[in-house]
Amino acid sequence: MLLPVVMAGGTGSRLWPMSRELQPKQFLSFHQGGSMLQNTISRLEGLAVEDPIVICNEDHRFLVAEQLRQLNKLAGNIILEPVGRNTAPAITLAALHAIRMGEDPILLVLAADHLIEDEDTFHSVIRNSIPFAEQGKLVTFGIVPGQPETGYGYIQRGDMQQVGEATAWKIRRFVEKPDLSTAQAYLDSGEYLWNSGMFMFRASVYLQEVSAYCPEILDACRSAMMQPVSDLDFIKLNKDIFSKCPSNSIDYAVMEHTQAGIVAAMDAGWNDVGSWSALWETSNHDSNGNALTGDVFAHNTRDCYIRSEDKLTATLGVSDLVIVNTKDALLVSNKDSVQDVKVVVEYLKSQS
Ligand code: GDD
Ligand code: MG
Repeated sequence: MLLPVVMAGGTGSRLWPMSRELQPKQFLSFHQGGSMLQNTISRLEGLAVEDPIVICNEDHRFLVAEQLRQLNKLAGNIILEPVGRNTAPAITLAALHAIRMGEDPILLVLAADHLIEDEDTFHSVIRNSIPFAEQGKLVTFGIVPGQPETGYGYIQRGDMQQVGEATAWKIRRFVEKPDLSTAQAYLDSGEYLWNSGMFMFRASVYLQEVSAYCPEILDACRSAMMQPVSDLDFIKLNKDIFSKCPSNSIDYAVMEHTQAGIVAAMDAGWNDVGSWSALWETSNHDSNGNALTGDVFAHNTRDCYIRSEDKLTATLGVSDLVIVNTKDALLVSNKDSVQDVKVVVEYLKSQS
């Protein structure tokens, strides 16, 4: 059985003012159904998986436990990070914990903030990829790129691999977040896929790779887990030790270096919902192209994303805007400028 590992420790700052330090985007609900974390877990229904390991910041422990409880999932596998050290350590902790429980399972590592429209395709790609993970490969899931996006990893396909019915490609090259001209060249070549940010491998295989390419991360995670601080049923770490762990993502720390990478194509309506414009794209639109949530009166308004949390928002004669009106903050942005929301968050941090 697959053991899902959900990485839920990001800050989601590009979705300010909805996403806040105490309520990052993965714990909020933007589309129909539950929170992004809950949808990530519910989406696995129908695959043979165990109850997930969730790794998050310790400030969010009760939020995560409650969201798992609502799904009738065990809350005994929540790993709490005293500080965020990015995804390479987070996955290392999950792999160590999985092996400590006495097995060496295949981990299905998932981000907590993706949207996947076609669940049947998602399931069949995952199922077909299991034999590659069983053979000791690190499986990634590749998306055909639509534009030269610089916020993603790019994977160059190598030789085709086949196990039974399943096909995938060896990874010839993995480049995390290239600059714009490099991304454009990759797009034009037709040889590259976007890294979706989901991974599948045996726990011990990942730990071998971490030990080869960034042993300091493995050492720090091991020691931090060996000297835990007890806290109800949560899995806690030693803060002093974990704070000294280098901060790095799996993409830079492992995937750019490994010789055992495989990419399986996934055409399942994937979106990483990284910004307000991505939310506009993935929401239902009215006949004027507007995605409206809450109490909104939109007159002569086109192609806008408008969310009003607790008061009426009225718009007249505007287009291509993002308006997010919450209790204590209002964002008005051109749809093309939404990546700059990070600037507001930095400003707020500098003021506090
Ligand atoms: N537990 C934990 N701790 N989780 C974390 C941490 C951390 O310190 N940092 C990030 N995460 C979680 C986020 O909540 C998210 O679910 C996931 O890990 C990925 O982190 P992001 O910060 O969103 O990564 P990214 O979007 O910049 O890049 C990754 O995803 C892209 C696709 O969306 C990379 O894998 C790229 O290669 C990929 O293209
Ligand atoms: Mg992301």
